[in-house]
Amino acid sequence: MRTFAKISQVAHYVPEQLVSNDDLAQIMDTSDDWIASRTGIRQRRIVVDENTSDLASQVAKSLLDKSGVAADEIDFIIIATITPDSAMPSTAARVQAAIGAKKAFAYDLVAACSGFVFALSTADKLISSGIYQKGIVIGAEVLSKTLDWTDRGTAVLFGDGAGGVLLEASPEQHFLAEINRTDGSRGLGLTSGQTGLHSPFSKEGSNQPYLQMDGRAIFEFAVRDVTKTIAELLDSQGLTGDEVDYFLLHQANSRILDKMARKLGIGIEKFPANMMHYGNTSAASIPILLSECVEAGSLRLDGSQTVVLAGFGGGLTWGTLLLKL
Ligand code: ACO
Repeated sequence: MRTFAKISQVAHYVPEQLVSNDDLAQIMDTSDDWIASRTGIRQRRIVVDENTSDLASQVAKSLLDKSGVAADEIDFIIIATITPDSAMPSTAARVQAAIGAKKAFAYDLVAACSGFVFALSTADKLISSGIYQKGIVIGAEVLSKTLDWTDRGTAVLFGDGAGGVLLEASPEQHFLAEINRTDGSRGLGLTSGQTGLHSPFSKEGSNQPYLQMDGRAIFEFAVRDVTKTIAELLDSQGLTGDEVDYFLLHQANSRILDKMARKLGIGIEKFPANMMHYGNTSAASIPILLSECVEAGSLRLDGSQTVVLAGFGGGLTWGTLLLKL
């Protein structure tokens, strides 16, 4: 019998320290009015002494607690992140150790704000292969360590957090369709963590660790390319927006969501948002939102709802999934 992947549990974890727009206005030339009117963001969570693997491990533990699945039943762990604790060991390897998932293989997936969608797409294939039965996919970021805190153009936009899902084998199909894309030719519009060359045999390379962004170009990319891809995804299944219960989109900016909803001709009430509470948490934004929607009861995880997930950002990357949740 064929097996398919199903999201059976969701969880999220955010650091305790809350930083409001007014708090930022104390340390840089900005205001609550500017940030809220341009982005919808009112506050974000910023770590004090936790790193990315700490946030992700909290999510993984919570997934196991809520589901009753034992750590040694987990076959794989994928962590989507652009802010790993270190390149080696990976954040996923650290999480594997923290929860004692003895038989799991674990690796990080680097696709910025599309990372969680790409990782879910990958996990679906791993489970649908019939080789693996249970996996954990988490989006986790400590973006605060990559920000230039003297640059008001980027520092106000991002926050730290983590969210994730437990996937299990199921006899029914839950991953209905997907369109995943990358356009590396536009990649320099959004960069972070660039490392320079420094060996005695190399010419010196540029070293720009901080996140940098061409805000307008990214705004236009999201509204034009990602909207088009969501429309294609629905078309591919002969669906209209009315037949989808919710669109869970990457939480970069409320104006992007408004424009995308309008272009698709779908009411904004089908686009839950939480960037006002957390800012842009890159790979973590969709799973945090998913987990909050389940907590609020708007998503039930009983296989009765149709949901579109869409991540978009650095790479440039964008990924869309149509799910029965
Ligand atoms: N507070 C006050 N003023 C500011 C701030 C700030 N935090 N940041 C910039 N400004 C000023 C600028 O200096 C500029 O002033 P000037 O006109 O005197 O030169 C003015 O505001 C306008 O700056 P722009 O950068 O042109 O502002 P824009 O209207 O484009 O808005 C924003 C910037 C919000 C980033 C917008 O481009 C946007 O929403 N982009 C989408 C990209 C995004 O959200 N990226 C997140 C990461 S990517 C992703 O997740 C997909």
